[in-house]
Amino acid sequence: MIEADALSRLTIVEEEPAASNASFAADVRRGLSATPKFLPARHLYDAIGSALYEAIMLLPEYYLTRLECEILGHDAPAMLKALGDVEIVELGPGDGRKSRIILEAALDRSPVVRYHPIDISRSSLRALSERLVAEYDRLIVTAHHGDYLQTLQRRFLRGSGRVLVLFLGSSIGNYEPTEAHLLLRMIADTLAPGDALLLGVDLKKSREELELAYDDPGGVTAAFNRNILARINRELGGTFDLHAFRFCVAYDEQRACVDSFQVARRAQRVRIGALDLDVEFLEGERVLTESSYKYDLAGISAMASGSGFTLSRTWADPAGRYSVNLLEVTAASSQRRARSQ
Ligand code: AVI
Repeated sequence: MIEADALSRLTIVEEEPAASNASFAADVRRGLSATPKFLPARHLYDAIGSALYEAIMLLPEYYLTRLECEILGHDAPAMLKALGDVEIVELGPGDGRKSRIILEAALDRSPVVRYHPIDISRSSLRALSERLVAEYDRLIVTAHHGDYLQTLQRRFLRGSGRVLVLFLGSSIGNYEPTEAHLLLRMIADTLAPGDALLLGVDLKKSREELELAYDDPGGVTAAFNRNILARINRELGGTFDLHAFRFCVAYDEQRACVDSFQVARRAQRVRIGALDLDVEFLEGERVLTESSYKYDLAGISAMASGSGFTLSRTWADPAGRYSVNLLEVTAASSQRRARSQ
């Protein structure tokens, strides 16, 4: 039971009630009718996919979460000191394990902290927000259920202070580089001078380490990835035989990207009832389900400066495998925003 005082510090805003099912259907039709076939990675995260992703974050092979938590645990006070008092907006907080580290550092500096998590998963957003207001009595949470970009663009998420946007977990790596630039540009355009973005980015490393991180021997990542076919069966009346596909990952060194695929073990036809669509697969045909791009510091700096930010500091683990980057809004970007208002 959550106490009334805690609940009085929590507001949950419904940003886009019904959009996600329609977009899933449209994306499945588009992706499975394309050559080569693909399924947008954001649809991996239904309730089952989100639970499997949480399990992935605990795997020893998936070093990203562990290193990011270590870096934040060590350096969050310095990150917040560099910014002063901030209002915190988080894009896709998930189970909030990283958010807590930043929130605790912020609460150490300020009597009251305002936090705006934005998440597409209603259940995990509500659970996280209720836990946080119950645990931290000087925290005020306004949680937004919806797409983070649309929410940022629609709402003016600020009181009187500076805003720090958290975009952690190397989620930026799931965007094609041109889309990643655009996304950062759109984030910059919603911010004001002095605001900042804390961006978690996985760094380039050996093929062996990367392929092991994205294809763990216990098969958790394979189950996470396969769930997208199961989701089509559950939600769109699909007839995927899950045993007729296998999971495979490949690191493309030139693009610095780990690509994940479902591969047809044999030629087959799959019916997707809700779309009135029959999809033919050749033996060995691949469906791209996710791309995870890796960066180096020069790439992060270029992405920042091409998007209206300046990379002002990077924190990394001692072996340089993962990075957390402080990007500050440039004056030019703020002027663009002021002109368009
Ligand atoms: C959410 N995202 C940053 C993860 C990644 O590393 O690309 C998703 C993931 N896919 C397989 N393992 C984890």
